[in-house]
Amino acid sequence: MPDRYAVMGHPIAHSKSPFIHRRFAVDTGEPVAYDALLVEPGGFRDAVERFHAEGGRGLNVTIPFKEEAFALSGRRSDRAARAGAVNTLWFDGAAVCGDNTDGVGLVRDLRRNLAVGIEGRSVLLLGAGGAARGVIGPLLDERPQRLVVANRTLSRAVALAGRFAGQGRVSAAALDTLPAGGFDLVVNATAASLAGDLPPLPRGTLRPGGVAYDTAYAARPTPFVEWGAGEGAALATDGLGMLVEQAAESFRLWRGREPRTGPVIEALRAHLAG
Ligand code: ATR
Repeated sequence: MPDRYAVMGHPIAHSKSPFIHRRFAVDTGEPVAYDALLVEPGGFRDAVERFHAEGGRGLNVTIPFKEEAFALSGRRSDRAARAGAVNTLWFDGAAVCGDNTDGVGLVRDLRRNLAVGIEGRSVLLLGAGGAARGVIGPLLDERPQRLVVANRTLSRAVALAGRFAGQGRVSAAALDTLPAGGFDLVVNATAASLAGDLPPLPRGTLRPGGVAYDTAYAARPTPFVEWGAGEGAALATDGLGMLVEQAAESFRLWRGREPRTGPVIEALRAHLAG
């Protein structure tokens, strides 16, 4: 009998996590079964307890349960504590352990797959919700020259930047008052792409030859990816690689094995296109 893992969310039918983890299992030869479980709002804790009682080994957690997963975790990694959210759970006896692999997934996709360095670069992070909170710490760990958090609602950007003050040169801005000069890397962590929308960005936000990275992904280029291409980005990409990399880090936490991600990114891109 393979060991059971799953992703919980609401909605969940769209989740690519089963596609990814089943390929990791084949690639590594690990005896892993992986399902997508729809959980009703208000039912997350019960669902996790049931999964554990039935012998389940570990979970990925997606919208809207990442904060609840954080609250449920008796043992939290530093990454989870910084993000205030958990996307990876596993069980150690009765203890529920939680980590957050989203930020490391973004940084690995940038560094390893796309050869984009962050150290010494100026970085603009768009958004101040859960997605932005998940990636800001690992971005700052790469020691950018500066990181500006910009959000439609300025007060949320100020709060997020304030929370990470002292972990790097980080400041807040409104979308229409961005510092001049342009950014080497613009990361979109708003929910705008999910609605087919684009945060309104002044011309010159992206330096010519810069990188535009959307944490969302889709079969077709997102409005943000199209924006980046139109602004002369050297690279404008969605977050499909981040999705696969965060999954790989979850798999490593559970199984102690690092699956190869490149072939899975390619397969998933082809799957989406088909
Ligand atoms: P998530 O967990 O996906 O980050 P969230 O906490 O609801 O979800 O945050 C959504 C983020 O996307 C916020 O930064 C939001 O801006 P506000 O704080 O002003 O609401 C941003 N966002 C959503 N739709 C947007 C749009 N159409 N244009 C710009 N920003 C948008």
